[in-house]
Amino acid sequence: MKKFENILCEFPYRGHPHIALVSLNRPKVLNALSTALMQDVIDCFFMLEDNTDVRVIILTGNDKAFAAGADIAEMVEATPIHQIQENRFRSWKQIPLITKPIIAAVNGFALGGGCELAMSCDLIIASDTAKFGQPEIKIGTIPGAGGTQRLTRALGKSKAMYHILTGDMLDAHDAEKAGLVAKVVPTESLMNETFECAKLIANKAPVAIKLAKEAVNAAFESPLKEGLEFERRNFYLTFASQDQKEGMRAFLEKREPDYKGN
Ligand code: HXC
Repeated sequence: MKKFENILCEFPYRGHPHIALVSLNRPKVLNALSTALMQDVIDCFFMLEDNTDVRVIILTGNDKAFAAGADIAEMVEATPIHQIQENRFRSWKQIPLITKPIIAAVNGFALGGGCELAMSCDLIIASDTAKFGQPEIKIGTIPGAGGTQRLTRALGKSKAMYHILTGDMLDAHDAEKAGLVAKVVPTESLMNETFECAKLIANKAPVAIKLAKEAVNAAFESPLKEGLEFERRNFYLTFASQDQKEGMRAFLEKREPDYKGN
């Protein structure tokens, strides 16, 4: 497994043949998302995408922070032209190209780019002490990696406006009530619960999982009529897989399915 400077990558995670763990690893600066760290994240995601054994990716931070935002020290003197020249969001824009499900396991702060990174994953499981927020307004800027769009879709206009214009954080329970977070769990069981969720996904037919992920994401990007059509086509497509036959036969034969990923 390749070594990265700013993240840790573990596969197989906990001995599971289909689950990988990626941990952000700049603890001294609360996992501030430098350009180099984000490049590591996307390089690692693509490495796991290309590994046919991997079915689910978990992305996490540490006890204090998932990530406290983009690296302010790196950005403070930036100019718009410099950011355009260096294509600041290059790695971020590639996250949607990952077809395997990515679960964010969030402990502590998920702020600014950290909240945006969690929201770029497919689902979020949070510890009961997690804190989400877009505090950019407090440092004279605004979210830049999707916060105004994804938080608004998750919370609705008024709540998103409140959090983005004040910089106030949301606690894990409010985030769950609003639908930003799939599940809130006690801090000490965050990784166990996330692993259980990853196992539930990893033991399903991998092609159907990818098609389902793609169809849910289409709900954010298309009008209902187009989204329904997209879903219908992906539904038909699952019937080209051996795993669909296996899943339905196993149900009728009252046994566990044995999915091969084809
Ligand atoms: C660089 C950061 C950082 C960040 C924390 N640190 N967040 N460094 N960029 N985003 C560093 C601190 O400078 C400090 O370094 C160390 O991490 C510990 O942080 P403290 O502030 O001492 O911790 P604490 O008092 O517990 O406060 C935690 C905190 C606070 C509330 C999360 O650190 C904070 O407000 N951080 C900034 C949050 C933020 O504004 N995020 C948005 C960034 S802009 P030293 O060397 O002093 O020990 C953004 C735009 C995204 O994300 C655009 C798209 C990419």
